[in-house]
Amino acid sequence: MSLLLQGGRVIDPSQGIDAVLDILIENGQVKALGERLSGQGARKIDCHGLIITPGLIDMHVHLREPGEEWKETIATGTLAAAAGGFTAVACMPNTQPPNDNAEVTRFILKKASQEAFTRVYPIACITKGQKGTQLTEFGDLKRAGAVALSDDGRPVPDAFMMRLALEYAKNFGLPVISHAEELSLSQGGHVNEGLASATLGLKGIPAEGEAIAVFREIMLAKLTDAPVHIAHVSTKVAVEIIRWAKKQGIPVTAETAPHYFTLTEEAALGYNTYAKVNPPLRSAEDREAICQALSDGTIDAIATDHAPHSDLEKFIEFEQAAFGLVGLETALALALRLVNQGLLSLSRAIALLSTNPARILKIAGGSLRVGSPGDVTVIDLEKKWVPRKENLHSQGKNSPFLGWELQGQAVMTIVEGKITFSRM
Ligand code: DOR
Ligand code: ZN
Repeated sequence: MSLLLQGGRVIDPSQGIDAVLDILIENGQVKALGERLSGQGARKIDCHGLIITPGLIDMHVHLREPGEEWKETIATGTLAAAAGGFTAVACMPNTQPPNDNAEVTRFILKKASQEAFTRVYPIACITKGQKGTQLTEFGDLKRAGAVALSDDGRPVPDAFMMRLALEYAKNFGLPVISHAEELSLSQGGHVNEGLASATLGLKGIPAEGEAIAVFREIMLAKLTDAPVHIAHVSTKVAVEIIRWAKKQGIPVTAETAPHYFTLTEEAALGYNTYAKVNPPLRSAEDREAICQALSDGTIDAIATDHAPHSDLEKFIEFEQAAFGLVGLETALALALRLVNQGLLSLSRAIALLSTNPARILKIAGGSLRVGSPGDVTVIDLEKKWVPRKENLHSQGKNSPFLGWELQGQAVMTIVEGKITFSRM
């Protein structure tokens, strides 16, 4: 079955295209892009007034399977992803058991091939059990299908271990993704150190702890000449260090999440556990620096850090509550909010959500070039909607954006030429 998307405004940052065009998808690939294509025998989809982009790619999600299926599964997490306009997700390894060996990687890929609504790219652990003491078998993990390495959820505390990881990973062509946190400063903290910690009377997590860890990773990337990707950047000072490192030619890339460019620590001030996340929501000044970094290229990608938890982990005392919030279904609308505020161009937003994550992870997609995978997202920029517990597809309802009036939504998600989600 082939699909002909007619008359949409095609935005493809990989080719610098922003034009009203038809796109023909055949045999799971982009077959043609042009004006008034005939597409004989293809199913025709009227896209007038809509935006067509390369399928969105979320390079940082927690699918919770294996081991925590009451929070999310590969099926429900990828359904939420498809509903949010994503055609691919990369899943972090802090499952139970953690993805620190080829068997777990293969399990995830097998489940995904049977149940997923998007492509699923497993990220494997850097160290066994994410304990920071012994490297995993990078070669085995790569052969099993892992696309990157990370101990996300925890940093690698020892600098020498991280150096070894970068050196070995470089040999295998695997990107290393750093959860940059100086545990000796952050441990026991619950919210940003400053307004939130002082107001709530809780131990704080200082911005400087992120900065110290980011600087360490950058120095190790310089030392090893191996690429490092910084996950969930939340602070102005980390942005400044990354900007400096890029100017030096050090191989570093970075992502941030919608909550860091949308919210500040004030969201947690009512002890709202849905706004408890690690790294924590920061100050207004940090938020502004993140927005600037998204637009000037210091930050390369928007990733959700989708972290579903059930009410068992969230409807409890703030200090006991788990860190994390769901993001797959609101990410696109929150990125479009920056576009509407004039802080990002539409093409830059799509690069951050698709083209750049594909490049960082060295995976297919992120482009509508002829011959690329038939992964496409169709977006209605005008559509107004309100996220509510009842309309989220994720099993996790822990969103600080419930009840917000958002504008812009994916209306069709296409993976390998097949419609995986539609509101049309
Ligand atoms: O808030 C967070 N939640 N931060 C992390 O680093 C891990 C994640 C999770 O797995 O819940
Ligand atoms: Zn994470």
